[in-house]
Amino acid sequence: CGIVGYTGFQDAYDVVINGLRRLEYRGYDSAGIVLENANNSFEVEKTKGKVDDLVNISAQLKGTAKIGMGHTRWATHGVPSDRNSHPHLSNNNKIAIIHNGIIENYDTIKKMLADKGFTFKSETDTEVLVNLIQYFMDINVATDFPTAVRYALNEVYGAYAITVMHEDYPGVLVVGRLGSPLAIGIGDKEYFIASDASPFVEFTKEAIYLEEGHMATISLEGGVDIRTINENSRIEPEIQQLKLSLEQIEKGGYEHFMLKEIFEQPKSIHDTMRGRLLVDEGIIKMAGIWDHVEKFKNANRIIIIACGTSWHAGLIGEYLIEEYARIPVEVEYASEFRYRNPIITDKDVVIAISQSGETADTMAALKLAKEKGAFIYGICNVVDSSIARITDAGSYTHAGPEIGVASTKAFTAQLTILTLIAFKLGKHNGNLGNAEFMSLISELDAIPKKIEEVLSSTHELTQSIAKDFVGVHNFLYLGRGYNYPAALEGALKLKEISYIHAEGYPAAEMKHGPIALIDENMPIVIIAPKKGHYDKIVSNVQEIKARKGKVIAVVNKGDQQVSEMADYVIEIPETSECFSPIVASVPLQLLAYYIAVYRGANVDQPRNLAKSVTVE
Ligand code: G6P
Repeated sequence: CGIVGYTGFQDAYDVVINGLRRLEYRGYDSAGIVLENANNSFEVEKTKGKVDDLVNISAQLKGTAKIGMGHTRWATHGVPSDRNSHPHLSNNNKIAIIHNGIIENYDTIKKMLADKGFTFKSETDTEVLVNLIQYFMDINVATDFPTAVRYALNEVYGAYAITVMHEDYPGVLVVGRLGSPLAIGIGDKEYFIASDASPFVEFTKEAIYLEEGHMATISLEGGVDIRTINENSRIEPEIQQLKLSLEQIEKGGYEHFMLKEIFEQPKSIHDTMRGRLLVDEGIIKMAGIWDHVEKFKNANRIIIIACGTSWHAGLIGEYLIEEYARIPVEVEYASEFRYRNPIITDKDVVIAISQSGETADTMAALKLAKEKGAFIYGICNVVDSSIARITDAGSYTHAGPEIGVASTKAFTAQLTILTLIAFKLGKHNGNLGNAEFMSLISELDAIPKKIEEVLSSTHELTQSIAKDFVGVHNFLYLGRGYNYPAALEGALKLKEISYIHAEGYPAAEMKHGPIALIDENMPIVIIAPKKGHYDKIVSNVQEIKARKGKVIAVVNKGDQQVSEMADYVIEIPETSECFSPIVASVPLQLLAYYIAVYRGANVDQPRNLAKSVTVE
């Protein structure tokens, strides 16, 4: 979910609505706004649907207020509906709240409040919280509004980022966080609140990232007063300078963020290697690894935990690290890892991969690993994100903001980091000889150029292939070795944005099940570069053609055997096997993108999904 708040001299409606548009990638099944007008009373509008739907019903609020807050939601408690949308008001209609996250003990609190006569209009846990705040004021336990918020937060378990306003406290915004992120933008006579800095980057470059367990009372008169939620101790704010630019979060002439981000990959991969890969000197510089290199070297094993696309990157990481560094690697879904009582010791290194650095499951799995004494390492894209902060060390992917919900450039940047880690550890461990190391790193250095080539040679081709598959219901993606996870990721891209059912499989496993699905209606994308079990793949293609499946083959330039059998051929330049997932992913991203576009889907904001999933 996304939160925006504002107090200052501008029209709060405009600031909040424009901010919500920037945060819509975080969730978009309902949206709402509350403003405090010149008479100090609330104006609330909320609706199921997107920010555009909210604008359709709320345009009359434009120009009416200088303070307000808004929400764009990804439903957890209660189906997306007008009623369940935020903001929620307390029973006395004086307190308005917007909340991201989950209150786990809401049921008990709800019963307690119901016993005291409170009623509830929605199914949300949020409405319980706002009434708890009212309750603390009603019974005079809390002497003022911020204190009531603090008392209420001390009663709840779960994860949250909240902003709250009270009609009797005009000009005041109270915010708090535990788990879900919240940034406060400091302008000249204005303050902004948002789930990330994108809503206010055009107005100010100064921001405070609220820490876990902290709350803040914000007003033009009183400034920003930060306190710990549990003890009310005062905290000196740490103001950071934002590096984000407006240009980075706009579409820059592309029809969708996803397409822009696909095309940014030569640059994002290059940026991820910049300052780390020093080909002329023959070294890889990674402080996070180097400072703890003995930990890695002596590790019993490396456990990679992640979700979604990042998990696919982790699978490729396993191939890379085992091949080049010869350290055993396990890759786990964060959500499974944490609930299966895993064996973790202080000899383990746990690497979390997360674009957002906020994914709740990954965060929780990491905390568990830390408790058990493992050394925890982060590969995150969002600087200063929650995961980046709790890890012992880490390497950022410098892919820049990724806004399309389906991950593209963050994925290839993650692969770049994992490649660098594998080579660096391999060299240090003595498993990767100097000559091979030198040849691999100079090849890696040339990958951005190869991606550029692939983008220009496959852009139109993937568009025209996509047209032929707009009406299909299923897709299979096959690959072997390094390209098996690349097949999983190709399938995920398609299903996320086009809603066509797609499955990725190791090509050799096809005969143990998926082959039963193959007939003339089944398209099969097969990744078949020269290096990496090519002959075996040739047999797999024969098996598919014998059953009349339609083959879309991703092959190296000049390929013959597979190309002769395939119905569609997408050529990519030849690379060492370990780099082929980076290169092969690009046309698969484009293919998924164009199929989704031709099906009229909203590629940047696919239904039911959200960019960062801050709930378990
Ligand atoms: C969500 C997104 C995916 C992403 C996954 C993990 O499901 O829609 O694109 O891969 O979360 O996110 P993370 O930020 O941890 O990489």
